[in-house]
Amino acid sequence: MRSKVTVVGAGNVGATTAQRIHQLGYADVVLVDVVEDLPQGKALDMLESGPVISSDAGIIGSNGYEESAGSDVVVITAGIARRPGMSRDDLLLTNMKITSAVTEEVVKYSPDTIIIAVTNPLDAMVQNVFESSGFPRNRVFGMAGVLDTARFRTFIAQELDVSVDDVQAYVLGGHGDDMVPLVRYTTVGGIPISEMLDDDDIQRLVERARQGGGEIVALLKQGSAYYAPSASITQMVEAVLLDRKRILPACAYLEGEYGINGLCVGVPVKLGGGGLEKVIEITLTDDEQAALNRSAASVQELVDVMRKAKAEG
Ligand code: APR
Repeated sequence: MRSKVTVVGAGNVGATTAQRIHQLGYADVVLVDVVEDLPQGKALDMLESGPVISSDAGIIGSNGYEESAGSDVVVITAGIARRPGMSRDDLLLTNMKITSAVTEEVVKYSPDTIIIAVTNPLDAMVQNVFESSGFPRNRVFGMAGVLDTARFRTFIAQELDVSVDDVQAYVLGGHGDDMVPLVRYTTVGGIPISEMLDDDDIQRLVERARQGGGEIVALLKQGSAYYAPSASITQMVEAVLLDRKRILPACAYLEGEYGINGLCVGVPVKLGGGGLEKVIEITLTDDEQAALNRSAASVQELVDVMRKAKAEG
C-alpha cells in the first residue's frame, strides 16, 4: 500500500510540493486549502499528468480534513504572506491562528502523523504547531535549513564551477537572516571550503544565501520562492517515508541541546521513519555558539509575542 501525505495550503509552496510528491509515485497525496475548489482543481490537474509522468499515485483536493485521515506525513504551508502596512507581529499572529487551527484538524484526523511545518515566520510557527499538536518532538519539525543550505550550496557550486552534488554545507539557527552558516563544516568533495575560496568570497556567498529569500521576492515582484522550498520539503518527506536516516538541518524543539531548552531552532538532525530520530550535537566555536544564541533569542522574542497573545485570548 502506498503511503499517504497531506499538504495543507494549496498555494505556490503547497501545490508545488504536492506535485513533486505525486510525481515520485510512492505516496497518495491530499491537498487541503480553505479556498473553495482551488485544491480540487489543482489536484485534478496533477492527477491527469499521471499517465504522462508514469505515476499511479492518487491525488485529491479538499476544503476539509476527512480525506486526510490516517496520513503518514502532513506538510503545513497554510498562511498568508506579509502585506504592505502589516507589521511583523500582525503577520506572526495571523499565521499563528491559521497554523493552530490547521494543527487541531490535522491531529484530530491523523493522531499518529509526522508534521513538517513550513509557514513563516518558520521557527515560531514550528513552535506553535509543536505546542498545539501535543505530539512528541520527533513528530513535529520544520523545513528551513535544507533550503538555506541548498542556496548556499548553489552559490558555492556556481563560484567554483563544480557539481552541486559535491558541495556539502551546514547551517544552524533561525531561517534566513538569522541563519548561522557552519563554514568549518562546508566542504567541496570532502575538501574544506577554506582551501578553495578565500574568506571574503565565502562571506559574500554566505550573505547571498542569508538574503536568498529576499532576492527571489525582489525578482518575482509578487509572492515568494517555491521551487527550491518545495524541493527541500520533498527531500524531508522522502527521508521519513523511505526511512532513509538522512542527516539534514531542520527546525527542531530543543531540550537542552546546544544549551537551548524549550525552543524550536535549526540544528542538524537524523530524519527517518520515526521522524526526527535524533538531534545531532556538534562542538561549536565560541563565535558559532554566540551566533546561535542570538538566533535563538530572536525566535524567543516571537514566541513571547505569541504567548502573550494567547494569554490575552
Ligand atoms: N487552511 C488551509 N489553507 C489556508 C488557510 C487555512 N486556514 N489559510 C490560508 N490558507 C492557504 C491560502 O488559501 C493559500 O492558498 O494557504 C495558501 C498559501 O499560499 P501562498 O499565498 O501561495 O503562499 P506560499 O508561497 O505557498 O507560501 C506558504 O510557506 O514558505 C512559506 O513564507 C511562506 O508562509 C508562507 C508559506
